[in-house]
Amino acid sequence: MYNIAVLPGDGIGPEVVREGLKVIEAVSSITGFKIHTETYDFGGDRYLKTGEILPDSAIEEFRRMDAIYLGAVGHPDVAPGILEKGILLKLRFELDQYINLRPVKLYPGVWTPLRDKGPADIDFVVVRENTEGLYLGIGGTVKKGTPDEIAMQEMVNTRKGVERCVRYAFDYAKERNKDKKLTLCDKANVLTYAHDLWRRTFTEVGEEYPGIKKDYAFVDATCMWMVKNPEWFDVIVTCNMFGDIITDLGAMIQGGMGIAAGGNINPEGVSMFEPIHGSAPKYTGKNVINPMAAISAAQMMLEHLGEKKASHIVETAIAKVLATDRMRDLSTKSGVSTSEVGDLVVSNL
Ligand code: IPM
Ligand code: MN
Repeated sequence: MYNIAVLPGDGIGPEVVREGLKVIEAVSSITGFKIHTETYDFGGDRYLKTGEILPDSAIEEFRRMDAIYLGAVGHPDVAPGILEKGILLKLRFELDQYINLRPVKLYPGVWTPLRDKGPADIDFVVVRENTEGLYLGIGGTVKKGTPDEIAMQEMVNTRKGVERCVRYAFDYAKERNKDKKLTLCDKANVLTYAHDLWRRTFTEVGEEYPGIKKDYAFVDATCMWMVKNPEWFDVIVTCNMFGDIITDLGAMIQGGMGIAAGGNINPEGVSMFEPIHGSAPKYTGKNVINPMAAISAAQMMLEHLGEKKASHIVETAIAKVLATDRMRDLSTKSGVSTSEVGDLVVSNL
């Protein structure tokens, strides 16, 4: 029996989460586990009505849950940053979800913009540091709005924060057992303090993993290789900001935002699973958004909870549906509705 906090959020969040939960319910009756969901309406609408973003009391409730399942946050009538920082980043930070795990996997039957590359070439995982770096919000502005304005935003890297992320990535590469290779994606040639810490930590921790090949790539080159030679990568570990950027590129080569999912992981605490896409407000209620990313996030959640069999069944069903060629394009133009995709996955479990 698992207690899951469900935060459908804004825009199309509720629609895609509904499909993910539909799939979890269906697979739970096959493999025999139970889930109890508690739904929270945090997001733009609630904020506009009540002024409340995400109270600490909710965070305390989440701490007692087995996992969190999130749709999307972002509302056209709310200034950028308020909901992102107030909900998504607050959850990641407060619950110390220090890993953002983002698989980049091209399933057979899905179109990639990379000519001559197929499922055998595009199958790697990005381990993004999720609680530090440029995301901490430390900084300030002086003489705002004048020609002398100074704006500073600090990039925070702690030995502890870097080490736990790098260690997780080495363990992950070992367990994944694919090419047994871990690439450190950084900018150590320019960020000679911040990313020197990453390099030293990576090298030191790496000594404990003699079976894992160590590979280094600057972030700009990483982008180039992701397009030119994605098969080079097995597991990539990187800082928060670079991880944010390269996983949007990753999403595109695996078929788009309609399929990309991620987990915000606290290996010792409560983790949160979400599609990488945003709230796509203009499509709200139209039943056109592909929920595969949310379904895939649900599958990652099952894996994380230890429901390996259920996770495997769901992933196989996702692959089967995609292989039918009905959704080579996972955009709103696929011609398959949101609820239909959920039904298709369920009927393939
Ligand atoms: C993501 C998103 C978030 C991030 C935003 C919404 C704050 O882009 O999950 O990648 O930058 O981490
Ligand atoms: Mn992002």
